This record gives sequence, structure tokens and C-alpha cells, in this order.
Amino acid sequence: MSNVHVIDHPLVQHKLTLMRNREASTNSFRRLLGELASLMTYEITRELPLQDIEVQTPLETTTGRVIDGKKLVFVSILRAGNGILEGMLNVVPGARVGHIGLYRDPDTLKPVEYYFKMPSEMTERDIIVVDPMLATGNSAIAAIEKLKALKPKSIKFVCLLTCPEGVAAMQAAHPDVPIYTASIDRQLNDHGYILPGLGDAGDRIFGTQ
Ligand code: URA
Repeated sequence: MSNVHVIDHPLVQHKLTLMRNREASTNSFRRLLGELASLMTYEITRELPLQDIEVQTPLETTTGRVIDGKKLVFVSILRAGNGILEGMLNVVPGARVGHIGLYRDPDTLKPVEYYFKMPSEMTERDIIVVDPMLATGNSAIAAIEKLKALKPKSIKFVCLLTCPEGVAAMQAAHPDVPIYTASIDRQLNDHGYILPGLGDAGDRIFGTQ
């Protein structure tokens, strides 16, 4: 599976296992997701370009390197994507945020768009699309199709969990978009859920089960 990056840092794997536990409360699920999102962002942003700036220390002037956080856009696929956003913004507070509202039609499992709001000047921006679960891939594929029409500099996709079916669908549709995940689970079930997975991410984040 080329262009798929499994973030297997021990802290990421540890927290993911705690999140899988059906007994985890909404409170701890949400907190763990935030922590995981921060840790994953650390890996995902590893290759971000840096620019030199002059900085005055208490002793002298020197050159330091900074990332241009404002060029980065985190795009959340609603609603579960919002559960990842806060953790990402904790480590890149200057990033802009876009939202795409897509829901899965329960019969066809196909995405239906109901909301799309992005920052301006998208041609100058690097996009990181976030959705905790890359399952059938239908929502992520549709979201990335819309985003590509805005001609951004680059697009990456981040999820907590995926499965071979989700990766294959995404790579068939968008082979140029790297996928970052904490795990590629065994399979998708007939209802579009990842096995062993962690259940419905949105319900577990927002306590709506
Ligand atoms: N969405 C979820 O929230 N969970 C899955 O397992 C698949 C899609």
C-alpha cells in the first residue's frame, strides 16, 4: 500500500487501544481523540516547509525557522472530523479551518453534501482533510473531489482508523493523496463499519448513541 502512512508510535497505539474499548466514557474518548490528533499532527506536518525569519534574543539577533501556519487548512468532514480538529489546532494554532458536511445515505452508503465552507485563496494553501474513520471511503473521496476543484497546493488525508477496502477505494480515486492513519483494521462489515474498529466515531465523540 504505497502512499499510506501508519503512525505506529507507541503513544498513538496505546491511546487508540483505550479508545477502542466499548467501556470508554464519552469524556475519555473525546480526550483521547484530542491527544491522538495532536500526536498524529506532529508526524503529518514533519515535511512542512520552513521559512527563515530574524529573531531578537535577549542577547543578539539570529535567524530562526518557522512554518507558515496560515497557509495550512484543516478541512473537517462533519461531524466526526470536528472531534480531531481541536487536537490538531493545539499544535498548529494558526491553521485555517474548512468544513464539509456530508452524510452517508443509510441505504446506498453514498455521500450527500449539505455544507461546504472554505477559507479564501485556496490555491495557495496546503490542505489536510480529517475524518476519524476511512471506511467505504465514499465521503472522503467526494470531499477530496470538491477540494481538488479549488486547486490547492497539496492535499493530505488523516484518519484514526481505516481498513483495506477504504484504502483501496481512496487510492483508486485519489492515488496522489497520501493517507495517514493510526491503524489499518481487518475489514469493513456489511453496514459500512470497520472491524474491529471502535464503533460509530461521531456517536462516541458527541455522546449521541
Ligand atoms: N464510521 C464510523 O464512525 N465507524 C465506522 O466503523 C465506519 C464509519
